[in-house]
Parts: sequence; structure tokens; C-alpha cells
Amino acid sequence: MKKFIRINKKIKSFSKKINVEGDKSLSIRWVILSSLSKKKSIAYNLLKSEDVFSALDCVKILGSKVKIYKNKCEITGNGLNFKNLKNKRKLILDAGNSGTLGRIILGLLINSKRKIKLIGDKSLSKRDFSRVTLPLKKFGARFNKYKKLPIEMEGLENPKGINYLEKKGSAQCKTTIMLAAIKSKGITKIKAKKSRDHTELLFKHLNIPIKIKKFRNYDHISISGIKEVKPLNYKIPGDISSCAFFIVLTLLTKNSQLLIKNININPSRTGIIKILKMMGAKIKFQNQKTYKGEKISDIFIKSTTNLKGINCPVNYNSSAIDEFLVIFLVAAKSKGISYFKNLSELNQKESPRLIWASKILNLLGIKNVTTKSSIKIYGNPNLNLNKKIIVKNFLKDHRVFMMSVVAALTFGGEWKIHDYDSVKTSFPKFLKILKKIKA
Ligand code: S3P
Repeated sequence: MKKFIRINKKIKSFSKKINVEGDKSLSIRWVILSSLSKKKSIAYNLLKSEDVFSALDCVKILGSKVKIYKNKCEITGNGLNFKNLKNKRKLILDAGNSGTLGRIILGLLINSKRKIKLIGDKSLSKRDFSRVTLPLKKFGARFNKYKKLPIEMEGLENPKGINYLEKKGSAQCKTTIMLAAIKSKGITKIKAKKSRDHTELLFKHLNIPIKIKKFRNYDHISISGIKEVKPLNYKIPGDISSCAFFIVLTLLTKNSQLLIKNININPSRTGIIKILKMMGAKIKFQNQKTYKGEKISDIFIKSTTNLKGINCPVNYNSSAIDEFLVIFLVAAKSKGISYFKNLSELNQKESPRLIWASKILNLLGIKNVTTKSSIKIYGNPNLNLNKKIIVKNFLKDHRVFMMSVVAALTFGGEWKIHDYDSVKTSFPKFLKILKKIKA
């Protein structure tokens, strides 16, 4: 199979309507929560990507029954404990490329007395797991090591709730603790720096006892242990993180417009919209509705020529965390300097993304000053390339690939972009949808 793509023409003006695939965060959470109910849960529009298939494989190993159809997926879970586990050998769970899956599944294992080994691919094995193993240790879990996969974990029969301060603003870490909390006796209290709140909304929808007090930078969450989880039927909306690439493609292409249907616009995910609007982008939400606590909308984007650089407010960071690579492309084409700070978490993703951003901006000839946690981008509204560019990211980061495609289609030049396969983790239909926009 071809492992790279070549692009040597800018995209022509377009006016199109598209759908993107189901939200990855919600898809993985649906799989995990459904595995806790003994009754059948059904999801429509579940993202069919490698990360979600890894989640399905993991819950199967943990005793759930999974059926995948063309338009829906069903899970009949194994309940809150692991009593029905037949397989007597040491269990191995493979999270593949997914940080979300790898981290939050450890929360599920808090009450498993069986030793379970968690493994992942090359990229995941470089990422930090101490952010979840340390709070789980407070619940009483034991680990052979704390930081990097592969890790072996042994839970305990009767974990007790804990108090925890989550300072990184990591929804993965918060969710891990929340999952361990429902399996623990008593109350778990988490003071969590703001991050995406899908798990909280799903818990509320499932009537899991959760109380949340919201403050400016932190939420105070308390959760009580429970005895059973209801089934979760869910229609998964489109993923704003997948839209991000097409939003920027539209903004940076002359005389173009795009309507993207049925997208999750949870305010903890829409940082990209706020940031791009601050830069002058023309983006509108249309047809807004609420579904099981989540906000859903169509997104309408028009090309914008007079974009300007910004000093990005740090309180937008968490709600735009997966979108900064494409946001940096907009900064590259804007008038003036853009400054993004407090972003050390970007180097903790599938690849060190701040370092990658700087490398790609250098290839584009865009001056940037990059530190471990910030990037200053000196925009050039006349950016127009006329050279050969090769992008090969050895950790196969899907978002580096998709960002490079958007850069090639909007800035010109002759591009060879490797690691085409990487989109399979989050957005397998990326190139198919792009073809529809180009047609
Ligand atoms: C995710 C949370 C974010 C995000 C990731 C998905 C989630 O990571 O980058 O792609 O679904 O909870 P952190 O929680 O580590 O910031």
C-alpha cells in the first residue's frame, strides 16, 4: 500500500457540504462505559478508527460482547467487576496509539485482582503514564512501574475513594480517576483543572451520582461508588477535531465556503473556533441543539483574507489542545505576530507537537521562536511556496500528516507527505472527504 501522498497543486475554490466521522473522545468513552453495563448498549455513528477498534478489543478481553454492524455497534458488558472473566492466563490489553484508551482503561482495572499488562505502539510507549498510575496508586493499585508502557497493574477487591488534585488539565487523567471512583467505596473528590467534560455529562446522563462545582480555572467533582451502570444508547456526533483541518482549509482558500453537519460543539472543545474568530475568521454555528447534555451544531465557514496575529489567551488552551497544529498554519498566513504560551502539554501528545510545529514552520520559511512551552509565529499574509517539501514523522502522528496536507493545499509547493496510514487512528475517511471537497 502507498505510504505517502504527493501534492503539487493548491486546492481550487470550493463550496461544499460535508459530514465528518464520529467524535473520538465520545466513541472511546461509549465503549468503556458500555462495557460496565450488563445490558445491551447501542451506538450509532461510532467512529470506526484504529483507536476505537483497540478500545473494542480491550473490552472484549475484559469480558464484554461486541457486535459491529454497518451503522451501529452493540456492546453487552460484563458489569462493574471482573467476576465472569474466563481467561485464566495473564491478560494483555493493547491500547495501540491511543493515549485516551491506554490511560482511562487503567481506571477500569482498579478492582481487578488479576494482574493485567497494558501495552501500546511506539508512540504510546513514549508517553507519560505517571499522571494516571500515581492517582490509581492512591486508590490502592499496584504497578511494576509508573511512567512508561508496558506497565503491569494489579487492582484490589475493595478500593476506597480518594481526594485528588489534577493540575495538568488532562481529561484523560480526570476520566481515569472518575472511572476508578465509581468502583470504589465512599466518595472520591477531584479538584480538576478545566478540561473536556464528556465523562461528566455521560455520568449525569447515566444517573451516576456526581456533583460538580465549577470555578474559573478548576472544577470540584465528587463521585460516589455505585453497584451497577445502566446501558448507554448514543448517537455520536461528528468530531470537531476532525473538522479542524477542513475549517482551516476553507479559511485559507480564496472564495470558498463549507458547511459541516452535526458536530459536537461542547464548549470544552471549541477553543479552535474562539481562537480563529479572534484572528478574524468567518465561522458560524447553525442549527444548534442539545443531545444528552452535549451541544451539537452545523458549522459554516467562509474563506477569510485579512487574518491577523493574536496573543492567544491561555484559558483557550485546553479546549483547543488537539487543534494547535492547524491553528499555527493560520498564524503563519496572518498579518503580524501570534503568540501561544503555556503549551508544554503539546509535547506530550502522539508526537512532540510543539517541536513538530516549529519544524514545519521552518520548512515553510516562517520565522518562529519556539521554547518548551510556547511558540511565537511571525505571520506572512503573502505566504506562497515554490519549493519541494518532504514531511516524514517517525512517530506517525495523524495530526502532523493532516496538518501537512492542509499546508500543501493552501500554501503551494511540491510536497511529499509520508505516513499516510496514520489517519486510520482518528479519521480514516480524511482523504475521501478531501476528494469530495476537491471534486
Ligand atoms: C482526550 C483528552 C486530551 C486530548 C486527547 C483526547 C480525551 O488529552 O488531547 O486527544 O478524550 O479525554 P489530555 O486529557 O491528556 O489533555
